[in-house]
Amino acid sequence: MQHIKQYVEQNKQRLLDELFDLLRLASVSADPKYKPEVLKTADYVAAKLRDAGADNVEICQTAGYPIVYGEKIIDASKPTVLVYGHYDVQPPDPLELWKTPPFEPTVRDGKIYARGACDDKGQFYMHVKAFELMMQTDTLPCNIKFMIEGEEEVGSSNLGIFVKANKEKLKADVVLISDTSMISMEHPSLETGLRGLSYLEVEVTGPNRDLHSGVYGGAVANPITILAQMIASLHDENNHITIPGFYNDVVPLTEAERNALNSAPYDEAEYKKDLDVAELWGEKGYSTFERTGTRPTLELNGIWGGYIGEGAKTVLPSKANAKISMRLVPNQTSEAITKLFTDHFLSIAPPNVKVKVTPHHGGEPAVTPTDSVAYRAAQKAIAESFGKEPIPTRGGGSIPIVALFEAELGLKTVLMGFGLDSDALHSPNEKYDIYNYYKGIETIPLFHKYFAELSN
Ligand code: BES
Ligand code: MN
Ligand code: MN
Repeated sequence: MQHIKQYVEQNKQRLLDELFDLLRLASVSADPKYKPEVLKTADYVAAKLRDAGADNVEICQTAGYPIVYGEKIIDASKPTVLVYGHYDVQPPDPLELWKTPPFEPTVRDGKIYARGACDDKGQFYMHVKAFELMMQTDTLPCNIKFMIEGEEEVGSSNLGIFVKANKEKLKADVVLISDTSMISMEHPSLETGLRGLSYLEVEVTGPNRDLHSGVYGGAVANPITILAQMIASLHDENNHITIPGFYNDVVPLTEAERNALNSAPYDEAEYKKDLDVAELWGEKGYSTFERTGTRPTLELNGIWGGYIGEGAKTVLPSKANAKISMRLVPNQTSEAITKLFTDHFLSIAPPNVKVKVTPHHGGEPAVTPTDSVAYRAAQKAIAESFGKEPIPTRGGGSIPIVALFEAELGLKTVLMGFGLDSDALHSPNEKYDIYNYYKGIETIPLFHKYFAELSN
């Protein structure tokens, strides 16, 4: 541990400067106008892996953005850790809500503000620097492979193809990912599951053109009203989802699992205060942790239609649209849920409108074992570096590739995230604490050390 602290201390400024250079690159995967910056980011990651001491560094082309690969095989008889991360980020919009520009990393109060600071540049880069540390101090105890992709925020569809085509190259004993959250620095935790996702878009069409709302209003169904009614009917008075069969495949938690989850520290007053809401909302009969980590949900992500410009325009619009996502839990599948939603949504459409449902990307839920060598290594690493045993939690977010690693490579994942839910992922003013960044760089070598030791 001493050599780790010392290395971080001696390289403090450079470790931060390099992350800042990475954060300056606007690697937004969703919007083609950022393409040159996304490609530059892949080059940067490859160069840094090479500098840190990785061999066979490659920028693997795909039908979309490239995957950066690198490895260090010290001894074929030693275990191998596959580190996954993503160098792409979410769009920065709405720009006007950022206190400082999203691609000019700025430190305020010990926190780095920038798009991608936490999700996932700040977090995957800790692994590159921890690897450098192990190489420089001659303490790398196992083999390591890096796979850093550029399309996580848009569904990782090309990574799936890459994984299927490169099973030998990606052979490993465990996948290690830092792309999730902890409860807090005082209550370090390890996520032991991720939800799946089914994302789709709906369009409700009424009359064949926009109409004068005085001339036609009252006589023709307004697609916004109809869409609002249809959406409202998707939850009942207990906030259960009303789609027939929606919960059929949900595996209920055991009483012990529920108790364990609910014994994690949680301050409801603080939670509400942070979000400035007077009351929480959710499925009746479940706690907040259960609702976000273990129950499926249906959320509206966007809704539009009619006139939304300055001032007023009396229009009865022809169309109304919404983007809807459902978070899934074991053993729901995105394909089955997408079909249930589509059938149900079409079936509740009144005859005065036409409804179209278009699926976007999906992903499967995953649970990670808590009795594996790798999980124990993560526990020990965190216990040593934080001075406290990590609390197991279930994450509400999705990293669809985790289920794919298991299905295609037979690999389990350890989710050793160092973010915080308050890091404003996907929001304006995303941040990552400098403290967490260094803490991650210090904890990761301990994971490798214990993983190698316990694997023996
Ligand atoms: N890193 C997040 C997922 C995450 C965040 C998991 C916090 C647990 C805690 C990831 O980059 C992400 O945003 N995933 C998307 C899904 C993807 C298919 C666009 C998500 O969860 O919405
Ligand atoms: Mn992420
Ligand atoms: Mn994300």
